[in-house]
Amino acid sequence: MIKKIFRKKTIEDFSTQINEENELSRDLSLFSIVLLGIGAIVGSGIFVITGTAASQHAGPAITISFIISAIGCLFAALCYAEFVSLAPISGSAYSYSYLTMGEIFAWVLGWDLILEYALSISTVSVGWSGYFDNILSIIGINLPEYLLNPTFALTNTGLTLSGSIINLPAVFIIAVIAVIVIKGIKESSWTNTLVVLTKIIVIFLVIGFGISFINPSNWIPFIPPNTGTFGKFGLSGILTGAGVVFISYIGFDALTTLSQETKNPKRNIPIAIVLSLIVCTILYVLVSLVLTGIVNYTQLNVPAPFSLAVTEMGANFSWLNVVVNIGAIFGITSVLLVMQTGLSRIAYNISKDGLLPKLFSKISKFKTPYKTTIIVSIACMVISGLFPISFLSEMVSIGTLLAFTLVSLSVLVLRKTNPQLPRGFKVPLMPLIPILAIVICLSQMIALPVATWLRLLIWMLIGLIIYGIYGFKNSKLSKD
Ligand code: ALA
Repeated sequence: MIKKIFRKKTIEDFSTQINEENELSRDLSLFSIVLLGIGAIVGSGIFVITGTAASQHAGPAITISFIISAIGCLFAALCYAEFVSLAPISGSAYSYSYLTMGEIFAWVLGWDLILEYALSISTVSVGWSGYFDNILSIIGINLPEYLLNPTFALTNTGLTLSGSIINLPAVFIIAVIAVIVIKGIKESSWTNTLVVLTKIIVIFLVIGFGISFINPSNWIPFIPPNTGTFGKFGLSGILTGAGVVFISYIGFDALTTLSQETKNPKRNIPIAIVLSLIVCTILYVLVSLVLTGIVNYTQLNVPAPFSLAVTEMGANFSWLNVVVNIGAIFGITSVLLVMQTGLSRIAYNISKDGLLPKLFSKISKFKTPYKTTIIVSIACMVISGLFPISFLSEMVSIGTLLAFTLVSLSVLVLRKTNPQLPRGFKVPLMPLIPILAIVICLSQMIALPVATWLRLLIWMLIGLIIYGIYGFKNSKLSKD
């Protein structure tokens, strides 16, 4: 029994799977995959959460928070890159654990990734809803509040009824993206290229026009003094700010879920992961400097901080305000596109291995796992309609940090157990980088509230029960 739950796949299993069973079409070039990376990363984090983090935690020093958060992500990203250069398979971190630590770890990680992706999709769609509401107001349409807010609100006593019925725009956008994802990755990639270019241009417009409206006195003090509470400005505020903006970088890992649809994935995916992360860090640092330079950080706690900054620039820039709102909507949409594609690919892989029922790996005439997409999208629609962004984003952070920790650990394990395997890309400075990645991720996890840990444990418990009842018996490895 114990031996069975730790059974591992071999690198040959992956090669066979990639060569013989590649039902997914291989269309994506390096350029498309870098754009998909940026598409997956730049979204609600920068467009919405930057404002909260600056006004509540770090002030103008949110720029430093972005750099700290990027360093932790970059270390984990290098570990992802080594794995993908070894086994370019669309199951991402899940597949890597199957290779290194055995089935039970793979299942735990796969189940954790389902949580991470489903909640990221829900969180991001709630951010989308905020900008959508803004653009509707600009054109004179005002949806009733009870259709714009989630059913539950997060208060000091936990979740309570908010008085609203549902966050309708959030539910709507997930349904639209599900249709695009079902139609196929080629269309998704084309749509993504357009959308990503739009959001990069919008960010550059804000930086370019915004620079001359910077009032340097808004940057003084650059690190506002701590208020006496941990995480409220000062150095601890910068660290908490780094944890809060962490969600802005999530998404590069989704690229690994597209390995089976990418040309020359062993080379292209590692390059794309690192490149997209670096580009996004530069964009975030510049744009957060401009935002806190135009608007005093104390005023940035709004659902659409970019829009507020452009409004400060005066009536001459009302056209830019429209462009920014549309750009944010487009930008957040492309995050959803990659995340929804990634989630269905993970479930597809787990199901191929027999750990989830076969219906999750059914392929449509468009060569996409359509049943999975429909099921997971419905789940995300329900979550996004019901829960507030603050509740969801903490769960996203804990789930993602756990995945990053396990992937970094797997890289260390595999270097020890299988040093001879051919790796297209190797993590430099071994074992320092994976160890630092683990330390940074674990310390961010420890800083999260106990309630978030409890929810994670309950999710994991449900996962273990499903494995016990279904996966253990139906695992492809047990049949082989
Ligand atoms: N990084 C993604 C975003 O900020 C999840 O929307």
